[in-house]
Amino acid sequence: MKVRQIFCLIICVIATMMILSACGKSKKQSAMSENNSVIENILSRRSIRKYLPQAVDQETMKIILDCGINAPNGQNKQSWEIRVVDDVETMDAIVAALAKANPTVTPEMIRGCFRGAPTMAFIANDRSYLFSTIDCGLLSENMMLAAWSMGVGSICLGCPIPLFDNLSSVDPIWDILNFSPGYRPIICIGFGYPDEAPAAKPRDPEKYRFVSIK
Ligand SMILES: Cc1cc2nc3c(=O)[nH]c(=O)nc-3n(C[C@H](O)[C@H](O)[C@H](O)COP(=O)(O)O)c2cc1C
Repeated sequence: MKVRQIFCLIICVIATMMILSACGKSKKQSAMSENNSVIENILSRRSIRKYLPQAVDQETMKIILDCGINAPNGQNKQSWEIRVVDDVETMDAIVAALAKANPTVTPEMIRGCFRGAPTMAFIANDRSYLFSTIDCGLLSENMMLAAWSMGVGSICLGCPIPLFDNLSSVDPIWDILNFSPGYRPIICIGFGYPDEAPAAKPRDPEKYRFVSIK
């Protein structure tokens, strides 16, 4: 056998071994996540920005909300308050109030911010508690994953939040939302039945790594 042939054979053997070891690894990984509905639910969830018109029924929303409030939270202070709006009139009133308080944005722009979701959760956090934003983030993710597992789409919405800053403290919208003193909106989450099936956005696995002094 010529030297070149031996060299090619060695390369082929190494390549085959590398492919086989990669297959083994992914097989092991997929065996752990296969038929695991929790992992499948987490990995398949996508933000939905197009909805069918009907609101999510309140029984389903109650399940979603119960999942939300069962999230881990700092000292079990449950430093969140959630108000759900699922009728057009109330949403229209909120959009009109935000538009009045923010003359540089049109009602259409504000409506666009809410992405047409027929059910809207307004989540407020306790501004006096250090970990309240984290509590609300965990609550939100629980709600969105619970929704997804039942075929309900969702969209986390930061866009409307700054608009609340200009809303007068005596605006009637505050009476409707009726948050406790010290609580202010931190995030909105739209819910509804999806009218689109967006592809997953790429994630960067370089964001995590195992570290060790060994
Ligand atoms: C704190 C936060 C604020 C967000 N605000 C908006 C928003 O205002 N409008 C919007 O369309 N999407 C918003 N999103 C959704 C993100 O754009 C989306 O989660 C991200 O692009 C990843 O896509 P995926 O959820 O489909 O995986 C927000 C998400 C988070 C977590």
